[in-house]
Order: sequence, then C-alpha cells, then structure tokens
Amino acid sequence: MNKSYIWSLPTRAFHWLFVVGILVAFLTDDDHLLNYHAIVGYALLILLAFRILWGVFGPKYSKFKDFPTSEIKQYSSTIFSKESKYIGHNPAASYIMIIMLVCTFLIILTGVLTYGIQEGKGILGFLNETYFKNMKSMDNIHEFFANFFIFLIVLHLIGIVVDKFLHKEVETLKSIFTGYKNSKEDKSIKLNIFQKLFAGLMFILLIAFLVFNLLNPKNMLVASINKPIDYKVQNEFFVEECASCHTLYPTISFA
Ligand code: HEC
Repeated sequence: MNKSYIWSLPTRAFHWLFVVGILVAFLTDDDHLLNYHAIVGYALLILLAFRILWGVFGPKYSKFKDFPTSEIKQYSSTIFSKESKYIGHNPAASYIMIIMLVCTFLIILTGVLTYGIQEGKGILGFLNETYFKNMKSMDNIHEFFANFFIFLIVLHLIGIVVDKFLHKEVETLKSIFTGYKNSKEDKSIKLNIFQKLFAGLMFILLIAFLVFNLLNPKNMLVASINKPIDYKVQNEFFVEECASCHTLYPTISFA
C-alpha cells in the first residue's frame, strides 16, 4: 500500500471553509441576523467561484474532467464491490459534488433575490420598489433549495459511511483532513506554481472580503434602500415594552 496525496491543501481548505460557511448560513437564518446571513452567502459565492475555477485549472482529481461521471452505469452495478477503483471521487460522489455546487449557486442567487425583493436590501434592493416586489414566494424557493442542500449533505455523509465499510483501507474520511489516501500505486498529485498562486490569491480575497464587511457593515451588499428608523428616538417605551413582537412603529401614542 502506498500513501497517495490526493486532496491538496486548497481543496481541503475549500471543503472545510465551505462546511463552516454553510453551517453559519443555517445558524444565521433569523430576521435579526439577516445581515450576517447575506455576508456569509457572498463569502460562499467566493468559495464557489474558487471551486469552479479549481475544477478547471486545479490538480488531478479536483478537476471536473477527472470526475468519472460517464461511468455511473457500470458503477451502479458494482457499487458495493470491495474493490475500490476510484482514488478521486467515484461516479456517484462526482454527481453529488456537481449537484451541490449547482444547488449552492441557486441558493445564493435566490438569496440575493429574496434579500432585494422582500427586504429592499443588497445589490438588488431596488427590486423592492418595482413590480417584482409582488414575488412574495422568492424566500420559499430559497428555502426549497436550502432544504434540498441538506438532503445532499445527508447523501454525501451516507456515501462516506458506506465507503468506510467497503473500502476501509483507503481511508477516504481521513483524506479530507490529511489529503492522503491509501492506494496500490502511488498516485500523488503536485500543485504547480500557478495553482498555488491562484489558491493563495483566492484565500486572500476571501479574508479581505470578510474584513471589508467587518469595517463597512452597511456596504452596498447589505445596505437597505430605506432610511433606518431609530425607534428609540421616536418612542423609547415602545422599544422596551412592545418591540420584541411588534417591529413596526406603534400606531398609538403613549404620551
Ligand atoms: C409577546 C408579544 C407581544 C408584545 C410584547 C406586544 N404585543 Fe401587541 N400584539 C401581539 C400580537 C400577536 C398581536 C396580534 C393579535 C391579533 O392577531 O389580532 C398584537 C396586537 C396588537 C395591537 C392590535 C393591532 C391591530 O391590528 O389592531 C395593538 C394596538 C398592540 N398589539 C399594541 C401593543 C403595545 C402598545 C405593546 C407594548 C406595550 C404590545 N402590543 C406588546 C403581540 C405582542
């Protein structure tokens, strides 16, 4: 058995940053945390862009053209075979990865649309003042894709568990931490200088994006088209007693 370096550092960093991003996105799915939810969405878009370009210019096994999708037919008849033919993604995993990436794009797209249409915020905030404001179901579509993504995560995890039973010696699960899988021959990959540079730049871009949002919490990606109302100035009593349920300005005066 050889130790083969299959998942390069950028591939693994992408994987775990993506996991964290998706997790934070689900945790910030709350009216009061919508700003953070939106920023995480944009950050995930940067990660998604990285992964798509990595799928074109990246190392072997991370490239989409090394995803053996065309072998799904043969694979489906030997899916429980003990022999592990694929050191990268197997055909089933390849499909799930691709669908996950497409689904992420649709979630972000419908997220930006919902944020604009229903909240009047973000780069599409102007839609809140147009005919499109009537599209009240945009958040349902956003939620549908988000739920579908949970389903994909479950499939992904089931795949790992099945693999753990069938191909214990390959150590697929460990490989997403260490990068190494066990194989008969050494099938290690190596990054070229262009790939290292590109991955480094994308990582810096992601960090810069997050710092930018920290320093400019009202930038155009999350800004509202409406002027903020300081309810405390208008009626402090209302804010303290009633605003936990009523978010609009009170209809009656407490003078
Ligand atoms: C625990 C949550 C909660 C708090 C706190 C609360 N409300 Fe309400 N309020 C409601 C709900 C729910 C309704 C809607 C009842 C219904 O369906 O008609 C409501 C209805 C109302 C209405 C009637 C609105 C209408 O359409 O006729 C008024 C007025 C109102 N609240 C005033 C207040 C004021 C003033 C305070 C603060 C002193 C307050 N509420 C605090 C939950 C709350």
